[in-house]
Amino acid sequence: MKILVTGGTGFIGSHTCVKLLEAGHQVVIIDNLINSKKEIVAKIEILGKKSMEFYEGDIRDVNRLEEIFTHHNIDAVIHFAGLKSVGESVSMPLEYYDNNVNGTIQLLKVMKKFKCKKIVFSSSATVYGMNDNVPFEEDDPLSTTNPYGATKKMIEEIMQDLYVGDQDFAIALLRYFNPIGAHPSGLIGESPNGIPNNLLPYIAKVASGELEELSVFGDDYDTIDGTGVRDYIHIQDLAEGHIAALNYVQAQSGIEAFNLGTGEGYSVLQVIHAFEKASDQIVKYKVVPRRSGDIGSCYASTQKSKNILHWEAKLDLPTMCLDAWNYVQNGKKVNK
Ligand code: NAD
Ligand code: UD1
Repeated sequence: MKILVTGGTGFIGSHTCVKLLEAGHQVVIIDNLINSKKEIVAKIEILGKKSMEFYEGDIRDVNRLEEIFTHHNIDAVIHFAGLKSVGESVSMPLEYYDNNVNGTIQLLKVMKKFKCKKIVFSSSATVYGMNDNVPFEEDDPLSTTNPYGATKKMIEEIMQDLYVGDQDFAIALLRYFNPIGAHPSGLIGESPNGIPNNLLPYIAKVASGELEELSVFGDDYDTIDGTGVRDYIHIQDLAEGHIAALNYVQAQSGIEAFNLGTGEGYSVLQVIHAFEKASDQIVKYKVVPRRSGDIGSCYASTQKSKNILHWEAKLDLPTMCLDAWNYVQNGKKVNK
């Protein structure tokens, strides 16, 4: 199939594009490079052993999208493009609604115009909100606590309405839990700008000596050791989940949400210790008060994805930490 990947040079997009090329698909990327670099294109092609098309552009630019759909017979879209920082979304809500919600509407309009009606969308476990009733199942009630989460929930609702109006659409809403790790080659991975907000990139920077120490946000949750529990999933498994979702939308119309997680939760302290073992470094940390908006435990029920997508995560926490560390070390070699 010929697949348009929006946000294809980003963290999740790049790993998914490699899997798409490996699976024999043709890939066309549109990315405005707001949070990624053009060099990633060549790296994806090396790893996927095939070339692809890259368009620098914004999904809100309808002319650019129409140019792509005119030049390419796109069979399906995997839609990653969007802004993803919770904290930033609180201070810049209009940018988040415009980029994520408006961007998606423009994309869907062009898809409808060109009769391309298969889409896999990057949603997030954030749509389960402050609900602490783990494991989360796809039909649990949804709620949000910040503009980033609100954009994901809104886009899910827009896509539900789109399907009601046009039942030729085939839509998979993928609710990611906590993607970490990197491609085992160490060539692509997660490189957040500035000081990371998320746990794994922060730990990696402490282990490599770039940052002094990690702040552990709270040790008074009702969890195994009091620190927050999350469902960390290897980026390679997550990327595979997109191939499964693509097969699903290829086979039938409809709209379904799927959790992409491992179904297992690990605490912050467990992750720190796993990373120390993988890297053979000490990760210095101190416990500080809870981060506002955090919940104690968040992990997926994986039954629906197993049953319907025939997909499940296979890689364990030590492998996630090893691959993340390998990527950091590889980056150091390249930058010398
Ligand atoms: P990322 O920032 O690495 O990738 C997103 C890509 O989209 C970037 O390359 C960016 O340049 C591009 N982009 C942003 N706005 C665009 C626009 N208007 N037009 C064209 N390109 C645009 O993020 P990621 O971690 O790969 O996340 C991909 C998607 O998955 C996002 O929608 C994010 O909200 C969602 N998600 C991510 C996580 C996570 O932990 N990484 C968790 C849940 C959901
Ligand atoms: C965060 C976002 C979520 C988003 C997800 C993936 C918030 C409130 N939630 O989820 O919407 O979908 O990232 O991008 O921002 N932790 C520390 N110290 C740190 C960083 C994190 O102790 O420096 C803890 C957190 O309290 C949490 C765990 O580590 O218990 C994971 O945190 P993080 O990586 O930020 O992911 P989430 O909070 O799950």
